[in-house]
Amino acid sequence: MARVLILGANGKIARLAEHIFADTTDSDLRLYLRNAERLRDFADSHTLVEAVEGDTTDVQTLIESMKDEDLVYANLAGSNIESQARAVVQAMHAEKKTRLVWISTLGIYDEVPGKFGEWNKKVLGDYITNYAAAAKVIEDSDLDYTIIRPAWLTDKPEVDYEVTKKGEDFKGTEVSRRSIAQIVVDIAQDPDKYSRESIGVNKPNTDGDKPAWY
Ligand SMILES: NC(=O)c1ccc[n+]([C@@H]2O[C@H](COP(=O)([O-])OP(=O)(O)OC[C@H]3O[C@@H](n4cnc5c(N)ncnc54)[C@H](OP(=O)(O)O)[C@@H]3O)[C@@H](O)[C@H]2O)c1
Repeated sequence: MARVLILGANGKIARLAEHIFADTTDSDLRLYLRNAERLRDFADSHTLVEAVEGDTTDVQTLIESMKDEDLVYANLAGSNIESQARAVVQAMHAEKKTRLVWISTLGIYDEVPGKFGEWNKKVLGDYITNYAAAAKVIEDSDLDYTIIRPAWLTDKPEVDYEVTKKGEDFKGTEVSRRSIAQIVVDIAQDPDKYSRESIGVNKPNTDGDKPAWY
């Protein structure tokens, strides 16, 4: 049974993952978020789930939240994402935790080819620079990480994806949040999966110059 700490637990992918965990696994979940009241009802209605209040820039609260956990799943965002990455790595070191799943984004290695790559870089701007810096903090650490680089996210209720490795060209333009959530749950059940890897994730056959809805 995996004990999973979810950082940024009210994020859209995180909430999908929480429902998959609760419905299909016996994992114990600790939900870490700002304003924990937002997930109080979900936590109260599931015996293996607790919600704790915390900001991921607060290293001491992070350390306390990591006690007894097997895996940390970070579903974070924001222009201070690099600082959040540093705080998470610092707290994991302090608590001697090793397994981290980190949601990042496409384009952090300039790995998106062609016109879509150019468009993506232009539209995302500093966001990519910040996410690349955060990913570097994780990759430079000794943690057993998986960095997930999703394509542009959709809310389609489907699990349909393919994976590219670091060093390969990114494929496709879109992927569902549901697919990313399923990958996270699968890693928690089998922690050797994608160990110390940075994976691109896209829906097959969605190549184009932009995501279909642009
Ligand atoms: N949109 C796309 O097409 C796309 C594509 C690839 C990757 N991504 C990235 O994938 C990631 C996950 O996506 P998503 O849809 O699940 O994102 P999301 O709904 O925006 O979730 C991000 C979460 O991070 C939390 N957070 C930010 N700063 C925090 C802090 N200091 N302390 C605690 N929590 C903090 C937010 O908390 P609050 O609820 O308290 O604000 C939010 O719930 C994001 O980083 C996103 O940028 C997006």
